Amino acid sequence: MNLPGFDCASACPFGAGRSAALDLPVGQIRRVAASRPAEDGEVDETKRNVLKLLAVAGLVGAGAGGLVGGTIQFLQPPTVGISSYPKVALLDVDGSALTVSKLEAEYNAATTEDILFYYPLANEPNFLLNLYPASGTPNGTNGAENVPYGIGTHNSIVAYSAICQHLGCPAPAISYYPPGTCSKTFSNSVYPTLSFYIHCSCHGSTYDVTMSAGNLTGPAVLPLPQVLLETDASGNIYAYGMRPGSPPVNGHLNTLQGDYGVGTTSQLEKESPIILCSFPV
Ligand code: FES
Repeated sequence: MNLPGFDCASACPFGAGRSAALDLPVGQIRRVAASRPAEDGEVDETKRNVLKLLAVAGLVGAGAGGLVGGTIQFLQPPTVGISSYPKVALLDVDGSALTVSKLEAEYNAATTEDILFYYPLANEPNFLLNLYPASGTPNGTNGAENVPYGIGTHNSIVAYSAICQHLGCPAPAISYYPPGTCSKTFSNSVYPTLSFYIHCSCHGSTYDVTMSAGNLTGPAVLPLPQVLLETDASGNIYAYGMRPGSPPVNGHLNTLQGDYGVGTTSQLEKESPIILCSFPV
């Protein structure tokens, strides 16, 4: 049936004049120019799409390879560290050179803030202590002098790791307790009454600051690593190594491995201590 004014003989697919190309038996599939070779200058779309697919697959494969390689790189991070103990100049909190005279004027056994510096690596904090009392003769209840590896006028300036040797609590969880901070006292071969020490509030470890930070109470069983200090002719203070026999800084298999070195200077920082006076019975 032709619509009025509409030539169905050449345009209607279902009309009497429909094209013979559409007259297919039910179920028959007709191939239309399936194997016709591409003529000169004509692009074979099938081949082009296959090539595109292969190119994309190659890129994805290369990307995946890079991803796997990058992942492996992160799974095996390079070891960071330094090969030997550097000589590092200590700077005061204001950035100026730290001299013995300056330190002795600013800090003493009764200083209530933790004075910290990093050495030899950037993630290894240490206490800097001047154990000499502000007044009076040092007797263990007010301060100390001539301590092992001490420097300064009274050999009372020392430095110890500020990371606990038990489970690694850092300052200020582990802090210096000035004389009389807690009622608890200890004794050693020099001082029958010792009223100042380093104490860790995490589990109660206590360290003897007058004896290379040996253990006064557990649960820690190792002393705090001791940083070696020295001065030059002008009295400037340097850190230059660790006491022979010091254990590695807690958390490090080797005190020299595990982070980047601090460089040629290390500036003091002040931190408020956490005081708990909680000792194992
Ligand atoms: S981490 Fe210091 S006592 Fe446990």
